[in-house]
Formats: sequence, C-alpha cells, structure tokens
Amino acid sequence: MCGIIGYIGRRTDAGFLVIEGLKHLEYRGYDSWGVACKTEKGIEVTKDIGRISGVDAKRFLAPCSLAVAHTRWATHGGVTQENAHPHTCCDGSVVVVHNGIIENYECLRDELKQKGHTFRSTTDSEVVPHLIEEEMKGTKDFAAAVRKACLKFEGRFAVVAMHKDSRMLVAARTGSPLIIGVSKNDGYFIASDTPAFHESTATVQYLDDGEMVVTDGNSIIFSDLVTSLERRKREIEITWGAAQSKKGKYEHFMMKEIMEQKDSIARAVNQDEAAIQTLAEAIRDAQGTFLCGCGTAAKACMAAEYFFSVIAGHHVNFAPASEFKLFHRFLKPESLLIVVSQSGETADVLEAMKVAKSKGSKVLAIVNSEGSTIAREADYTLQINAGPERAVASTKALTGQMAVLMLIAYALLGKLQKGRTRLLETAAAINDMLNPRYIDFIEGIAEKIKADKDLYIIGKSWNFPMALESAIKIQEVSYIHAEGFAGGELKHGPIALIDTGTPCIVLAGNDEVRTDILSNAIELKARGGFIIGVSPVRHDVFDEWIKVPDTDTAQAIVNIIPIQVLAYFLAVKRGKDPDMPRNLAKSVTVK
Ligand code: M6R
Repeated sequence: MCGIIGYIGRRTDAGFLVIEGLKHLEYRGYDSWGVACKTEKGIEVTKDIGRISGVDAKRFLAPCSLAVAHTRWATHGGVTQENAHPHTCCDGSVVVVHNGIIENYECLRDELKQKGHTFRSTTDSEVVPHLIEEEMKGTKDFAAAVRKACLKFEGRFAVVAMHKDSRMLVAARTGSPLIIGVSKNDGYFIASDTPAFHESTATVQYLDDGEMVVTDGNSIIFSDLVTSLERRKREIEITWGAAQSKKGKYEHFMMKEIMEQKDSIARAVNQDEAAIQTLAEAIRDAQGTFLCGCGTAAKACMAAEYFFSVIAGHHVNFAPASEFKLFHRFLKPESLLIVVSQSGETADVLEAMKVAKSKGSKVLAIVNSEGSTIAREADYTLQINAGPERAVASTKALTGQMAVLMLIAYALLGKLQKGRTRLLETAAAINDMLNPRYIDFIEGIAEKIKADKDLYIIGKSWNFPMALESAIKIQEVSYIHAEGFAGGELKHGPIALIDTGTPCIVLAGNDEVRTDILSNAIELKARGGFIIGVSPVRHDVFDEWIKVPDTDTAQAIVNIIPIQVLAYFLAVKRGKDPDMPRNLAKSVTVK
C-alpha cells in the first residue's frame, strides 16, 4: 500500500526517472501521486489526485539529480491533493514520502501544533517532515534528525526524506518494505519494490526492519536505527527483469498473468527435490502444522488442507493470517507455521510470523516476490517462481502456490515424483486449454451474465476453497456481488437467495464427490438457477459447460482458471479496469 521511490546520483533526469519508476509501483496504490525534485531553484513539489500512469514524465525533465515520488493508497485522510505525498514541513525545507501508518500521529501532531507547526493535510504522514524539522532545531545533521524522529514513531512505516540544504537521501523502515537499487554508473534508488528501478539496475540491497540508510549518490551507509551502529549489506542480483513487468501484447496485466499460467505452474513445480523432501519431513515431525495467508493466498492454504488430508492423510490447520494470533496457545517450539504470500510483504502475515516466532515455532514461507520481507524472515523459503504479478487480482501466484503445496503433500506421502508428474501434466493441459477459442467461449458467457447483480459459486472438497476464490476474483474486478459456498451448505440457508435466472457456477471434478456437487447443482436448478458447470465431463444440469481437463488431484488448479478469465471479461464488459480495482491495493502492508 503506497509506492515510494527516491533517486540520487549522477543522472540529471531524476524527476523523469522517479515518475517512470513510480508507474511500476502503481499496483501499490493509485488514488493520488506526487513528486519532489531538487533543482537549482530549490525543492519543487508537484502532486495531484488520480493515477500516475497518465502522467507524462517528460514534464519533470528539468535538470535534477535528487528526487522522491509517491503513489498513494489512502489510509488516513481522504483522496485530496493536500493529502497526496510528498509532505513538507512548515518552511518547506524537509520533504518526505511515507508508506505505512504512524499510529501515534495524533499525539505527535498535537505536540507539534503546540510548538507552532501548521499542518496542511489530514494524513498521519505529515507529522514526519514536521517532526524532522523540529529535531533539526537541535542539530545541523539531517540524517541524525531523521533518526531521532523515526524513533518516536509507533506503527509500521517506510520513509524517504530529503532536505533542501543537503545532497542526500535518508530512509528508514519498520514494517513496510524498502529496497535499494544500486547502479554502479548512475547512483542509488530507494523504492518499495524492485520494478521501480528495473530499467536501471538488477543489483539490490535490502533494508531490514529497524534500519536506516543514508546515501549521497556515491556511497551508501546502512545502520541500526536505534544504536546507529553501521551494518554491512550484501549486493544481490535479482532475476526479475524489466520485460517481465510489461503488458506486452495484452491490454491488461490480469489477462497477461492468467495466460502466463501456461508456463508458471511448471516453474513452480521445478523445486529442489531434496528441499521439498526435507520440508515434508519437517511437517511430519512437527507438533502441529499451521497454514496461513490472506485473501487469495489464504484460499491456497485452504486448498492445501484438502491436499494434505486427501493425498497425504496428514492433518494441518488453517487460519486467515488476520485471525492467527488467536490460536497462539496451540503453538510450541516444535510447531511449524507455513505462510503463503505473493508479495511477501502482507502485514497480517508478518504479524502471524511474529506470533509463531515468539513461541519458538519454525516458519516456512511460500512466496513469489524475490527478497521480500517474509522470504527473508522465514526459517525456510520456497519461491513459486511465477515472475512479477502486477494486476491487483492474484491469478498465476495462486496456482503456483497450490502447485508447491501439492508437491509437498505428495512428498509427505513419499511420492514426490508422482506429484511432480501430475503437476507437470496439469501444466501441459492448461497450456492446451488456454487457446483463443476457449477464451472467446468464456467471453461469450461473460456477455450473457454481465448485467446480473448476484452470482453464486459452489464447490466441494478442494473445489470449495476455489468457490471462495472465484467469488473474490469476481467481486474485486467486476464489483458484481459474488459468493462462494460449499455445495452441501446450500440447504442450510444460501439456497434462499436463488431466483429465476440467478447465475450459479458449479466447480466439479471427475472424482468421488462429483455426485454430491451435481445433486447440489440440480437443487439450484430446481429453484431457477442458471447453471454454469466447470467440469471435465458434461452433465445435463449445466446450462453452460466450461470444459476443463481431467487432472484428478490437481483439479482445483485447473478449475479456477476459467473463472479468472470470466472475472476478467466481466470487469472489462462492465467498463471497469481489472488491473486497478477501486479501494484495493496489490500489497497490503497495513493491518
Ligand atoms: O501478497 P499476498 O499474497 O500476501 O496478498 C494477499 C491478498 O492481499 C491478495 O491475495 C488479495 O486477496 C488479492 N487481491 C486477491 O486477488
């Protein structure tokens, strides 16, 4: 939530660079944007409401080699120009971009007001430049003032600050991500995520929680925020390239990423076998294995409960990450927490990890984003190798997460190779399935139901979490009211919602629960439901049949894909932007 970028170095088009970089962070927030450039006239701040993607970066080509920029997802304070970042102090000498929430901002703001500071916005963030300005009264050292101010903040934050009289960028983080991009020729970038500087460098240094960084564009110093002790950092080469972060021939990232599942599932399966086996053993030996994630990643965890039960006969427990701490009494040093996250930065997941670590439990992270905080803080990490996922709606990350979790379930059964083969066959079947005729067919179904107000999805076994996931996908991009249920639960209440013509999606496999879910479909049809079956085999109850390959235990991975496509077309046909749904951000770094 909120994207930050700062640049300092030898290039003289810093304004252009940070605006272009910010466009790659738009997935983190897109209600307003702003930039501050240090030019020969002083610090020039420009900000506005709306999306950064529409801004012509050439407007910011005035010579400048130090700039910061921000794209906002509002937490405190509405979407207004005043509330957009960067924020400045009273005399404009201190400029700050901030991501996170300063939880004690009201108290700090009141104290600062009493000292004569005037606030222009209604954000929590504006206390940052004012507090730094206040600290500067006792020192000429800008970095020292930033450090002192940061030590007064409660909550999660990432800040990047500059001062009109110093040629330096100062940044600090606690809870929200910040990554340094190191360009030998050009200088340094500081950003919320690596795509912001993909075009310039693939060399990064990670800023950890409770750390601060100061750079003048020629060198960089990391230190502990509290003790000021210097920290040495490794330079790491990341593999995600600039090309992977572009839409290519697609109009939207969401469709691009759906189509990438032709390859991404096979990449997820390509894991180090010894590592998977070791993790399976850790699960077998653990006294309690817990799974948690948020949103779509949580649905991968729920599907994994079925994988572990049906494939491996092993009990695991799932809780949404936001609920996990309530189960802390079940955790012991011998317990294992498996966290699943695309971004590797989700605040509730980090919180769950903290709870588990406080009990001495080990944490396995299944993540997509290279070098993310979750990946770095876990005891074991598996990458799903899906490549950058830019659309807010998670698609290829979900199927990669499920593939890795299923692989572990097979390893637990002692049949890792069988799992690998099944998943690779599934990947090949998905490659065949996602052909232009198939996509057109689903677009046709979207055309038929695009004006409906409500939509229901049912499934059983691992198709139950996929019914919940289908609902998320449709809700978040098309804004149609969609709900997923376990088919067997219909009679206990939800069936009252069904009326003549209500679209009902039925997710089925060719398995032991097929008869059950089809009889639920028949019950829906008897109440007037318009039945859209997603199934390897046709059935008379289906008014529309979306054929999927029969992939046995991997059916959930296959069944969700046509629904992703359907959600995409429902959004587009209703005139919505599927990549940037209202009120949402890709990376949820606040609780
Ligand atoms: O980055 P994460 O996987 O931790 O994100 C978790 C959720 O915020 C995310 O899956 C969200 O539900 C998606 N927008 C759903 O498409």
